[in-house]
Parts: sequence; C-alpha cells; structure tokens
Amino acid sequence: MRNDIESILVTEEEIAKISDRIAAEITRDYKDSSKKLVLICILKGSLMFTCELMKRIDLPLEVDFMKVSSYGAQTVSTGIINIHLDIKRDDMEDVDFLIIEDIVDSGNTLSHLVRYLKERGAASVKTCAMLDKPDRRTVDFVPDYRGAVIPDKFVVGFGLDYDEKYRNLPYVGVLKPEVYSK
Ligand code: IMP
Ligand code: MG
Repeated sequence: MRNDIESILVTEEEIAKISDRIAAEITRDYKDSSKKLVLICILKGSLMFTCELMKRIDLPLEVDFMKVSSYGAQTVSTGIINIHLDIKRDDMEDVDFLIIEDIVDSGNTLSHLVRYLKERGAASVKTCAMLDKPDRRTVDFVPDYRGAVIPDKFVVGFGLDYDEKYRNLPYVGVLKPEVYSK
C-alpha cells in the first residue's frame, strides 16, 4: 500500500500538532457556552481526525455522525451532495454543532451542511477541516478551524480514501498518478 504513495504531505507528527492546536482553540472558544457541544463526524473520511480532536478537547461533548457523498470513485467533485445518514435530535436549539471534515475542496459539502443544520434550528454551526485545498474552491467558503493548507493534489490517508482504500495510512500522502489512471 505504501508503495502507491508518491510523497508524504502531512506526517503523523504534524497531524498531532494540528490536533493539539485546534483542540485548544475549540476548548477556549466553547468553554463559556451554555449550549451542548456536539461534534459531527462526517463519515467516513473524518473518522481518524475526529478521534484525534475529541480526546484533546477539554470540555463535555457529544459525538454524532453524518454520512454524505459528493464523490464516487472519481477524483473530481460532482457538486451534488447526498445525505446518506442524518442526525436525529429534538434539541437542535440547545446545540452548538461543530462539523468535522477531512478536507475542504470545492467547499460544497461544508457550505451545504452548515445551511442544512441552521435550517433545522441549530443554536450555532461551525466547521473544522483537517486539510484545505483553497485553489479548488467553487463556492465562497472558509472553515472556522483549519489544519493544513495543501496544494491542489489528490491525497489519501488518515481517513481520506481513493475508491475506499488508503484510509488506514497514518499520514496524508499524494497518490502516484498511475494508481488512479489504471
Ligand atoms: P467538497 O465538497 O468539494 O469540498 O469535497 C469534500 C469531500 O471531497 C471530502 O470530504 C472528501 O471526501 C473528498 N475529497 C476532496 N479532495 C480529496 C482528496 O484529495 N482526497 C480524497 N478525498 C477528497
Ligand atoms: Mg471521500
């Protein structure tokens, strides 16, 4: 599997540092809120990053899950967001939602989800992304918390997949082009 990686873009140590920094920011920003903090892990890509963050946030919190898709086996966004797994809550107005994503690319997924949760009556909705590819943005969107800014390359690992594989790599790497052209 590691032979399919051309180069490592974000190491395991860098991800740990990013997680320390962002978790401290979140702890500082939410410590005086009277609402319930709920992290929304966007499956499947943000599984690993959500774990890293939640164990470092020094506040009471809940974790919930949503599954959305904008990609199939391709490496370009279709612009269409489908919600495959939704949250079921009757306390929306008591919740500060923090959506955790693996990567912001076009910006479609997160801008869509923020609007969706606000429409459902959330007390507040913020976003956190481990990675950001600002060069690829098609909608005006900036995550509230952001890990590493990366160039316009297709990356895998630490939750991110290509055709459901490579999620278990402990770092973020660039896939060799011949892997997805074959
Ligand atoms: P957006 O809606 O275009 O911002 O896309 C966000 C989603 O696209 C992410 O949650 C990923 O699942 C997927 N994605 C975007 N770029 C990459 C990449 O480089 N590798 C793997 N998945 C990606
Ligand atoms: Mg994906």
